[in-house]
Amino acid sequence: MVSVMFVCLGNICRSPTAHGVFQQMVETAGLAAHIQVASSGTSAYHIGEPPDRRAQQAAKQRGYNLSGISAQQVSLDDLETFDYILAMDKSNLTALKQLAPVNHHRKLKLFMSFAQLQPHTQEVPDPYYGGTDGFAQVLDLVEVAAQGLLQQIRQEYQL
Ligand code: 4NP
Repeated sequence: MVSVMFVCLGNICRSPTAHGVFQQMVETAGLAAHIQVASSGTSAYHIGEPPDRRAQQAAKQRGYNLSGISAQQVSLDDLETFDYILAMDKSNLTALKQLAPVNHHRKLKLFMSFAQLQPHTQEVPDPYYGGTDGFAQVLDLVEVAAQGLLQQIRQEYQL
């Protein structure tokens, strides 16, 4: 089993979107028994809450269901056990590096490093304080990076 955890600040906008999109891609590829998907936030702000209504709405418009996801804060145990820990932006990555023991740092990456985009985009911008356009943009970026991530995992684990 390969395990992937998506991480943002609140675990109510970007990382649950990545979680729902990637989970659906994994299921469509018939790999649900091989790839475990989860998400969390670096902050404790929204623990126990469902994804932001705007994120759920935008995802639903593209056929993704985020309703089963509930926000949690990333734990030391997560950092030790997940194989891929993917940050939505550089500040999330910095927070993860401060929290994770050094021997686990190689698992910490920017999610957008898997996106084959020209010009290269490094971060999924935080949509929380903006309009609904921001949530559609999150989905655009997440869909591309999720494809690249699945391709990478299939190669690496011969799935
Ligand atoms: P997320 O978005 O990190 O993509 O879940 C945010 C959610 C909540 C806050 C900031 C960003 N907040 O400040 O409460």
